[in-house]
Amino acid sequence: MHARFAHKVAAVTGAASGLGRATALALAAEGARILLFDRDEAGLAETARACPGAVSAVGDASSAADIARAEAQALRELGPVELLVPAAGMLGPAKPAIELQEQEWDRLFAVNVKGPWLAARAFVPHMRQIGHGAICMFSSTAGLAGSPFLSGYSASKGAVVLLARSLALNHAAEKIRVNCVCPGTIDGPMTEASFSLAGEGQARSAREAAIRSRIPAGRFGAPQEVAAAVLYLLSDAAGFTTGVALPIDGGRLA
Ligand SMILES: NC(=O)c1ccc[n+]([C@@H]2O[C@H](COP(=O)([O-])OP(=O)(O)OC[C@H]3O[C@@H](n4cnc5c(N)ncnc54)[C@H](O)[C@@H]3O)[C@@H](O)[C@H]2O)c1
Repeated sequence: MHARFAHKVAAVTGAASGLGRATALALAAEGARILLFDRDEAGLAETARACPGAVSAVGDASSAADIARAEAQALRELGPVELLVPAAGMLGPAKPAIELQEQEWDRLFAVNVKGPWLAARAFVPHMRQIGHGAICMFSSTAGLAGSPFLSGYSASKGAVVLLARSLALNHAAEKIRVNCVCPGTIDGPMTEASFSLAGEGQARSAREAAIRSRIPAGRFGAPQEVAAAVLYLLSDAAGFTTGVALPIDGGRLA
């Protein structure tokens, strides 16, 4: 087996579903031992069953206390974390930005921006201890181009791009690389949820058809296609790549 991540320890948030789960499964298949983190205990257990040697931590990615507990558990049970994928994220309401409630805005930024910042803050010291490391954050095509439909989400994912780039500059000399992926529309629960935000029945179908028509490849992506890009950015093959925001979008932003 081509095991790029044998003997490496990784941490993946949002590991109970979708792209976080696909990334965890791909890392485990290539030999990594993983700390799986999510607030969804049942989904986490399902992911863990397919990841040999993984340990699970249930918690809120926007809680400093929960992330600190997960960090301590990783160190205790797996050793220092070399690879970090903070994938936990949420869509928030489909509204123009000025119609969002203050709590809706705060929650979006707590999960989508504070979450990956907390994870980086917790695990960069592990990477320093090892002498190198790699982080791959989750932005979105909506983090590179504005979205009238999901304005708050788009703003939060734009912040993730510059969080990743700033961290890349902070830590390049320490051999810690920080990149992010910007998936387009990928098959899975979050995409289903985004279509449902448009309404039911015909409204939902019209939204799905409109989104599909804007993708030059003519289809949605598969979670495994995003996971493959994340693994590349985490791997030694990307050793000179840091501060990059990589669209995985079937040509949507080309
Ligand atoms: N699916 C897509 O088309 C798409 C496109 C672009 C970007 N993304 C981004 O990719 C990442 C993964 O999305 P996905 O498609 O796997 O979504 P998903 O809804 O399938 O999974 C998200 C996971 O994050 C967890 N989560 C959410 N909030 C949390 C919190 N506060 N604490 C702990 N766990 C929490 C959920 O329980 C779930 O397991 C997200 O950051 C998302 O914004 C997804």
